[in-house]
Amino acid sequence: MNVLLLGSGGREHAFAWKLSQSSLLKKLYIAPGNAGTALHGTNVDISATDFAAIKNFVLEHEISLVVVGPEDPLVKGVHDFFLNDESLNNIPVIGPQAQGAQLEGSKDFSKQFMIRHGVPTAAYQTFTKDTLQQGLAFLETLRPPYVLKADGLAAGKGVVIPTTLADAQQELHAMLADAKFGAASSRVVIEEFLKGIELSVFVLTDGNSYKILPAAKDYKRIGEGDTGLNTGGMGAVSPVPFADAAFIQKVEERIVKPTIEGLRKDGIPYVGFIFIGLMNDHGDPKVIEYNCRMGDPETEVVLPRIQSDLLELFVAIGKKELHRVELKIDDRTATTVMMVAGGYPGDYEKGKEITGLEKVSEATVFHAGTKQQSGKVVTNGGRVLAFTGMGDSIDAALQKSFGAARCVGFEGAYYRRDIGKDLMEWKGF
Ligand code: AMP
Ligand code: GLY
Repeated sequence: MNVLLLGSGGREHAFAWKLSQSSLLKKLYIAPGNAGTALHGTNVDISATDFAAIKNFVLEHEISLVVVGPEDPLVKGVHDFFLNDESLNNIPVIGPQAQGAQLEGSKDFSKQFMIRHGVPTAAYQTFTKDTLQQGLAFLETLRPPYVLKADGLAAGKGVVIPTTLADAQQELHAMLADAKFGAASSRVVIEEFLKGIELSVFVLTDGNSYKILPAAKDYKRIGEGDTGLNTGGMGAVSPVPFADAAFIQKVEERIVKPTIEGLRKDGIPYVGFIFIGLMNDHGDPKVIEYNCRMGDPETEVVLPRIQSDLLELFVAIGKKELHRVELKIDDRTATTVMMVAGGYPGDYEKGKEITGLEKVSEATVFHAGTKQQSGKVVTNGGRVLAFTGMGDSIDAALQKSFGAARCVGFEGAYYRRDIGKDLMEWKGF
């Protein structure tokens, strides 16, 4: 079968790499893709949110399944677009419709959903410009640190955690009165600060049955020791030592089941991935957020651990028969280390030539922000390359990731040398 994959990051390269291993695959197209996805299929110069162009392409190239990588097309309704078009509505789209994507697209929606269905999460209240004064007063009743979240999508920047009341009040004012994040901050969720260690659990569902995929830990800050600005993610490790079978069991009972059941009760159709950002507080999970897609760079450690045919899982989702397919997981550890452009997550340059890729032998290189230019591979984003290693321990996997990172370079390249270090030193709660 011919498959169209939407997106252009490291997550999509990992999807392309995994899908290309399927015996069910005839042709894989990636829109728009990057220099890495081109190794496993054909890149097409169409934006992931240009639905009209996607439609033409799908019909011309006899696409029989569409996989959506990023949240943007989902929140904008790419799945609904397919369902509402007679020539497309028999083609399965892996990713929820706009309503289900609100689990990520609106913090207020997802908080209401969690409270309604008894999913453990931080206590919260939502404020608008009209209730700014109440919001400022509410902050006075809380203890620091304060968690303020722009309701809508804000490119991963919409969460602010000030440590003083004055900063929190100023921030709330900036978000609501000065539209700091545009329309995304026309509503702001203020919530209780959760203590614990963060990790992410991923669920694949056809709306009825589900599979829990390997958990992963992400490293969000730019600097070593978790310092500096937030990024899209600087590395990831799977499995996570503090997410043992007993913990995952709690996640399944307290979070995954009520979430799937809640979607059904609310009449919200949902197919695809649910990415559950969790806080593990001494063995008890609480939901920080839902995303309606896989994580990046988490995908670069989760997919290499899935032994089952990913396309077979997707086809089963399209038929609502996910329960028929077995999910096989590799017990080994996967680590990924992200190499980024100098200056990221602030301003950075693009177009730097990448050298040394051919020297990597023991790790898999997933391209995150690259493109082909005059026969060379050049940087084309802030996060540029993810180096995934596999091994019998975190240390063994990391040696492969770092070994690969040392082979490759471009002007201004930077990566964190401490990915996974906290997990290797972790001695329990
Ligand atoms: P989100 O976009 O909701 O994932 O938030 C971004 C980051 O802010 C999370 O990965 C957490 O590190 C942090 N965060 C969000 N909500 C809370 C909370 N209630 N308590 C503590 N940290 C939080
Ligand atoms: N790595 C976090 C995310 O994909 O949202």
